[in-house]
This record gives sequence, C-alpha cells and structure tokens, in this order.
Amino acid sequence: MTLSPEMWLHRMREEVPRGRVPVRIFNDPSVWQLEQERIFGRCWVVLGHESEIPGRGDYMLRYIADNAVIVVRDEVGSIRGHLNMCRHRGAQVCRAELGNTSHFRCSYHGWTYDTSGELIGVPYHKEVYNERLDRSEWGLVPVRIETYSGLIFGSLDASAEPLADFLGGFQWYLDYFLNPTGAGTEVCGPPDKWIVDADWKICAENFAGDGYHLPVTHQFGVKFGYFPSNNRTHFEGYAVHIPGKGHGIGLGKTPGLQPFSGLPEEVQEGMKRGLDPDQVEVFKDVRSAIATIFPNLSLVSQPFSRTPGKPGTRFCGMRLWHPLGAGKIQVYCWCVVPKDAPAAYKEEAYRSFTLLLGPGGVFDQDDLDNWRSVTRSAGSSAARQLTFPYDMGQDREPDPSFPGPGVAVSPYVSEVNFVNLWSTWLEYMLADERAAVGDVR
Ligand code: FES
Ligand code: FE
Repeated sequence: MTLSPEMWLHRMREEVPRGRVPVRIFNDPSVWQLEQERIFGRCWVVLGHESEIPGRGDYMLRYIADNAVIVVRDEVGSIRGHLNMCRHRGAQVCRAELGNTSHFRCSYHGWTYDTSGELIGVPYHKEVYNERLDRSEWGLVPVRIETYSGLIFGSLDASAEPLADFLGGFQWYLDYFLNPTGAGTEVCGPPDKWIVDADWKICAENFAGDGYHLPVTHQFGVKFGYFPSNNRTHFEGYAVHIPGKGHGIGLGKTPGLQPFSGLPEEVQEGMKRGLDPDQVEVFKDVRSAIATIFPNLSLVSQPFSRTPGKPGTRFCGMRLWHPLGAGKIQVYCWCVVPKDAPAAYKEEAYRSFTLLLGPGGVFDQDDLDNWRSVTRSAGSSAARQLTFPYDMGQDREPDPSFPGPGVAVSPYVSEVNFVNLWSTWLEYMLADERAAVGDVR
C-alpha cells in the first residue's frame, strides 16, 4: 500500500525521538510540495544582508522557495519586501537581480509601483477605467520583513511569530558571526551562486553541527596543514541547539590552539568589547563554529592557512540553501567581515573564503559531492522504506555549566542537534493548514 506523505510523516513522529529519520525526506517531490507551504510558507527565511542594499532605492531580487521577492530600501530608508508580481496580470515588475530605482514599472501594460509597493501609475486610468479602479487596493503584495544583526528575514505568513521568538535565543550565537565587535558586519560583494542536485535539508543538517565528516570529507586540509585541526576535536567542544526551534551550532575545539586564532589584534580587541564575557569565553577558543538557522541559512567561521602549518586567517562564510525543488538547490554564498576590521584583514579573509567556499571552493566541492550522493540515494524507490540512524550522542546529558542559551552537549561530534532539527521540521510539516500568504489583498 502506498502511504500519503501525511501518513508516513505521522509515523515519523514516533520514530524521530528514538533517532530514526526516513531516508526519503531528503529527496521526495511530495515532501517538497508540502514544504513549500508548511516550511517556506510559514518560517522566517533569510533573504540577504543589509549591506547589500545600503542606499535608498537599492534593491535585490531574492526568493522564498518558488516565490520571487523584491527586497528594497524605500524612500525613507526602511527595508521592504514585495512579491515580484504585478497585480494586474502577474508579470514580473523587477527583471534585474540588483540595482537602484525610484519605482518598478511593469513591462506588460505599464502599471507602476513605488519602492514602498504602492500602485502609483495606471496607464489610461481615466480613459479605460473611467477612474473607477481604486489604486490603493492594488499595491504589490507585501512580504513581512524583520532584521537581526544585518540579516534580512522575510516571511509569507502574516501570523508568523515575531523574529525574536522564532530565533528563540539563537541570537547569542549569531552575534559571533554577524556582530562580533559591536560595529556590525558587511558582505564582500554579491553572493556566489550555483545550482546543485542536492536537497536543501542535507546541507542544513551538515551545518547544524556535523563535525563527524570533517576528518574524512575534508582530510586534505588536515593532512596538508591548511587548517589547524586534529582528530581530538571529536572529544572537545559543544553541540548546542534551541529545542523546538531547529537552530543548531557546533563549536569545535582543537587543544593548544591560540585564543582568537586567525583574527587580527584589532578584531580580537573588538570582540572583547563587543561580546559579553560569556560569549568571549566560549568563542575565543573555537576552532570552527558551524551553524544552521532553521530552515535554510548556514554560517561557518574557521581559520584557513594558505601556507601549510601557519595559523592562517579566519573567515566567516554565510550560505543560503535556496530550494529549487526536491533534491535541487541554488547555493548563495557570501563572505562576511566585521565592518571595523582592518582592510588588509578583510582582503585576506576573502581570499581564504574563496579558496574554501563557492563553486570553486575545495570545501564546497568535497561537501557537495557527498550531498549530491545522499540526494541520489534518497530519491531511489527502495530508499522509501528505509531509515537513517541518529544514535550518536543521544545518551549524553546536557552540560548545565555551558553559559549560552539552549541545550549543550559535549563533545561536539554528535547527532543531538539533528534530532531537534528533524523534530522541528516535522512539527511544521504536520501543523494544520493555514493561509500561506496571509495578507493578500
Ligand atoms: Fe502588469 Fe498588466 S501585467 S500592467
Ligand atoms: Fe564540510
């Protein structure tokens, strides 16, 4: 008998707490059908970084699942989100990926909208509508926007909880990546983008704290001395998650590593001022910090040396696993640097970033080859009956002495964060149907 997605997802509710996850979730068109509405129609999804649109009228075209969203700074400097769809017959009113404008004019019949989304121009309004069309009713469909530490989030759900509640304390960890010195961060230019036959969920899982793969998948880096690491990282550090929210971070430690490794003096001093003492205590000794904000935004901070054996330069990479369908993503990949860091450091961090991440980055090639491979298996017919084990670390007790929010277990290499990730995903997938675009006019 073929089970409907809802039926086997209900069965999954019993299996996840005991560490079993159906293989098929990683590549199944019926799962993707539900995800569009229940995950991407309801969550706060990252659209970009404020530094990408610094001036009034600056805009960029981004997506929440299959919905194109214009993210624009309006006339008074506020960031707005609008569906990229003319209200007359639906043509895209914005055709460029990035730019600056005072208005968006539809190329079909010429309806024109200002940057706040209001319909300000209708050709022949008097002659053909006899002025009976109420322009105030037909502005662009708004997408809710909230920001945290420079990150721009959008939600299609008018009744979504406030972003602060959605993040649920994960801000404490995001500060390390997005505002380490208190002066904010900026991205080094537009994101690298490329398309991969991999499912967004295996990428999100990996970045929620898969320290287990590092010495195997990325062994070249350890062997050649490009990054300071050893297999002791398996026995050190923390995996932390926010229960019920899906967010997770792995904090890998390498014994003997210098505090603040890979950062210039100025950024080290900035961190001591910009972060609270508990944050400094946790992050100063981190070799790699790797995190996923549920559902599909991930961050990594780690040192990389272009000269084997040297301490190298720490960079921060941010990646969006934008789903194009079941088993297919477009990766958006940015390098993030503190605004007040020395120019020489920013340049060196960007060099390290480009060697490891992006379509030509060696880390991404290692990882994406494996994620393509997982996705291919998950889409096969026999895999529909199978489950994956998530046993690693489930018997570990949370460490009450860890100062940050959420549940922390040590060591870092475990699958505890992933069980929380899949439980959260499941709760969204099984929640009652609600209007996906709540504020449609
Ligand atoms: Fe845009 Fe007609 S579709 S003006
Ligand atoms: Fe990796």
